[in-house]
Amino acid sequence: MSNPPSQSLLTELKDRLGLKGFTADPSDLAPWLQDWRGRYQGAAAAMLSPATTQQVSDIVRLCAAEGVPLVPQGGNTSMAGGATPSEAGDALLLSTRRMNRLRSISAEANVAVAEAGVILADLHEAAAAVGRRFPLSLGAKGSATIGGLVSTNAGGTQVLRFGTMRALVEGIEAVLPDGSIFDSLAPLKKDNRGYDLRQLLIGAEGTLGIVTAASLKLVPAVGSRSVAWCGLESPDKALALLRLLDNAVGDAVESFELVPRQALDLVLRHVAGTRAPLGGSHGWHVLIEAVAPMVAPSPEKELGRALGAALEIGVIEDAIIAQNEAQAEALWRIRDSISEAEKKDGPAAKHDVSVEVSAMPAFMIEATAAVEQRFPGTRVIAFGHLGDGNVHFNVRAPEGADQAWAVGEGSAVTAFVHDLVTAAGGSISAEHGIGQMRLAELARLGDPTRLAAMRAIKKALDPKGIMNPGKLVPPIARAQASLAQSPHRQ
Ligand code: FAD
Ligand code: MLT
Ligand code: ZN
Repeated sequence: MSNPPSQSLLTELKDRLGLKGFTADPSDLAPWLQDWRGRYQGAAAAMLSPATTQQVSDIVRLCAAEGVPLVPQGGNTSMAGGATPSEAGDALLLSTRRMNRLRSISAEANVAVAEAGVILADLHEAAAAVGRRFPLSLGAKGSATIGGLVSTNAGGTQVLRFGTMRALVEGIEAVLPDGSIFDSLAPLKKDNRGYDLRQLLIGAEGTLGIVTAASLKLVPAVGSRSVAWCGLESPDKALALLRLLDNAVGDAVESFELVPRQALDLVLRHVAGTRAPLGGSHGWHVLIEAVAPMVAPSPEKELGRALGAALEIGVIEDAIIAQNEAQAEALWRIRDSISEAEKKDGPAAKHDVSVEVSAMPAFMIEATAAVEQRFPGTRVIAFGHLGDGNVHFNVRAPEGADQAWAVGEGSAVTAFVHDLVTAAGGSISAEHGIGQMRLAELARLGDPTRLAAMRAIKKALDPKGIMNPGKLVPPIARAQASLAQSPHRQ
């Protein structure tokens, strides 16, 4: 059972953290109490911004003693309302923004040790400065932090080659819910001392502790890259293209992102300075990036040849290969602006689903038809990481609908989409996490064995339930009640 913070706790926290580390001023707090999409509005008595791991530990110990909930927050770019406290106002917001030190970076060891508040784009720059790179990127790279990326097991646009955060985190330092410091930063390649607490913290969405730093895998810097934009007829053809590239270009292909015409149109309408990469009109597009390390030959020739072959056999309708960095960046800008353009365009029910890679094209086509027929006036815009079997299957509200649509009919749309995904053996959260947005749906559709194990782990590590309550782990009553109603499982 959680409690609101007492005045004496707030005074003690203020004394320990000082002016830079504590604020209860509503205007300081306001920007951090709403999620990126503007769907959730929370409340908190104060925002704590510790500068060191020891300060995080002190905060957690003091809050645990009073049973006061803590909501960890990095860049506040969560797509699942994960970093927004509840409206109750009994929680304290714990921002990692001041913990933004890169503790070390080594090209020889291929490892960077970054504090939780380091912003992804800053890590990219630091790695480039030592001739290496951190191979995970996403549209929110200018705000998303290492702590948030670890805690959501973020994916992004290079998962195809390098995997999600799980594959890139080699060590973790975290403060557990009793205030103890778990130091497992050593980047050991092999370690069989039992349960892997590091992996448990990755993707835990702040429900098992606060990540304070991580050891991150680096890879060789980009020697040359080749970025192409193709127009094609269908997601099916897109997957055929990916398989063709597997054979012709191989591992050099790092990104393969699907963009439907409607998503391109939204970007062109709402994002200044963007323009259509190809002359004609195409139902679907893919953005491809192939990369070679320093001394290896550029992948451009292989990519060009493969796209030529794809054009000849009718797998693609048209393509361009960026001729310089500015053109490459312009293509990426279109891809990375889809969420921003969607947000500007109005309400939508957002989904982050995965099925087996080979099943995704058919799923997209069939599910789109089913949704648009069942909910007249809606339009599906499904885009993203086709090569990972993960698309953002977003359903736009009918013309003229206001924000209330998302919580009204939008919820029925979500249940419908998630039922289809579940029936296809897929996941209702491929990369964004559960947060508060998908909690009821996880309770409704989750495998009871998995949910029971998650609740047991949560209870064992956080018996007072102070770490990011109301996120990720469905409460037992809710899960049981909805299990009785639904035949579906995830
Ligand atoms: P926050 O939003 O602050 O927090 C996210 C979650 O992690 C919350 O549950 C929070 O409590 C917890 N948390 C944060 N820091 C800590 C910590 N130090 N310790 C413990 N828990 C913590 N995601 C993808 O996976 N792939 C994408 O391609 C992608 N593209 C995006 C594009 C845009 C434009 C936007 C706005 C978001 C996108 N996202 C994507 C979602 C988001 O960027 C990621 O989830 C990111 O990992 C969140 O980082 P953050 O620092 O903003 O975390
Ligand atoms: C993306 O791939 O652009 C995202 O994960 C963001 C979104 O779903 O809107
Ligand atoms: Zn994504």
